Amino acid sequence: HLLAPKEQSLAGRRVLVTSGPTHEPIDPVRVLANRSSGRQGHAIAQAAADAGAEVVLVSGPVSIPDPCGVRVVHVETAREMLAAVESAPPSDVAVFAAAVADWRVAEESASKVKKGPAGPPALTLVENPDILATIAQRRIGRPTLVVGFAAETNDVIANAQAKLARKGCDLIVANDVSPATGIMGGASNSVHLVSVSGVETWPSMAKDEVAGRLIDRIASLLGKNQ
Ligand code: CTP
Ligand code: CA
Repeated sequence: HLLAPKEQSLAGRRVLVTSGPTHEPIDPVRVLANRSSGRQGHAIAQAAADAGAEVVLVSGPVSIPDPCGVRVVHVETAREMLAAVESAPPSDVAVFAAAVADWRVAEESASKVKKGPAGPPALTLVENPDILATIAQRRIGRPTLVVGFAAETNDVIANAQAKLARKGCDLIVANDVSPATGIMGGASNSVHLVSVSGVETWPSMAKDEVAGRLIDRIASLLGKNQ
């Protein structure tokens, strides 16, 4: 079917999206994980494809279907996610919507850890690589636009501004994910767009709509960068 010009605003562009949580194995049956349904990230990948972009979606374990018209790479861990992102073709835009586990256990057990008289095991954690910061700080092959997310439970804007500066991305989509908001796992989202030019607060809307508006914004920022 024919699409209106506005809907093809990313024709000829390559977009990379990360979505979902990562799972960091403790042993063959247990993981350390973040909460993330993947709904917002997947909606962004879908909206980018609908706008005519060539999209690679790197997804952690989620229970929602793959978007249509998108190349999906399924991964489990943060290190696998980084490897998949680094081996994807260069992109014009990268959107990091994944809820990456910040830590993994220092030594994954090859066999199932059993309960016993010694009591619970102590887990030693090590930090995972920061995928967004790695790509945003690339000297060669950095996407024109690097977009991060900041899911916070307090000081949302201040935390997002600090992340924007620390990680070196161009835009942060910040939201308050306190349990009372119902955003985690829910169908709607209430976000602030944080960049060096300021903060813009969007009303609460469906995650699909956030995705569509974000893609419109990305297309117009890319246009200005040409
Ligand atoms: N991110 C990433 N790799 C990580 C951690 C985070 O790519 N290892 C990305 C997320 O996808 C998101 C952004 O960085 O786009 C911010 O993630 P967040 O968890 O809010 O930031 P952290 O730096 O991990 O800070 P903290 O969890 O302590 O708030
Ligand atoms: Ca984190």
